[in-house]
Amino acid sequence: MTAVSQLVASLLRDVADFPKPGVVFKDITPLLGDGEAFGAVIRELAARHTGAAQPIDAVAGVEARGFIIGAALALELGVGFVPVRKAGKLPGETVQRTYDLEYGTATIEIHADAVTAGQRVLLVDDVLATGGTAIAAWDLLTDCGADVVGFDTIVELAFLGGRDAMGERSVHALHVVT
Ligand code: PRP
Repeated sequence: MTAVSQLVASLLRDVADFPKPGVVFKDITPLLGDGEAFGAVIRELAARHTGAAQPIDAVAGVEARGFIIGAALALELGVGFVPVRKAGKLPGETVQRTYDLEYGTATIEIHADAVTAGQRVLLVDDVLATGGTAIAAWDLLTDCGADVVGFDTIVELAFLGGRDAMGERSVHALHVVT
């Protein structure tokens, strides 16, 4: 286990039966609440993209916890931030994607002009679970012309198969829960 993986593991809180019975929720708020650790995690994510041959043009993050990670990472990389929001929150013209949840569907959207053609966008979130959210966000950004260069997450719940579901889309997780 890498040092940063250990750091994340030490500051992840398991919450039983949330949001429903039988689910153990991986809560990142202890990590966010530790300024030194939060900074270390953001710098670790940024380091993979700093000085890259083809730099990132923007960071996109998925509502809500992806906003926290994504905005901090965008600042660290010196680029702008694109919010991928749950439907009905953005004021301008939007483009949407709907995806399946265990029960029902969810819809996410971005402003139609949030990205430009060929813009190199890094997608981030706090947790990769089934992959449904990340796939929808990735494809939504692609629909709008972005070149999505990867998906970075703090935690991957490997037992839910998100990485496989992501297929050819590049996934990087700081801490993998098996
Ligand atoms: C969580 C998490 C990811 C998503 C991962 O968000 O922050 O966005 O679920 O799950 P998946 O890989 O199975 O799609 P949630 O829907 O709980 O929204 P929130 O951040 O607004 O609480």
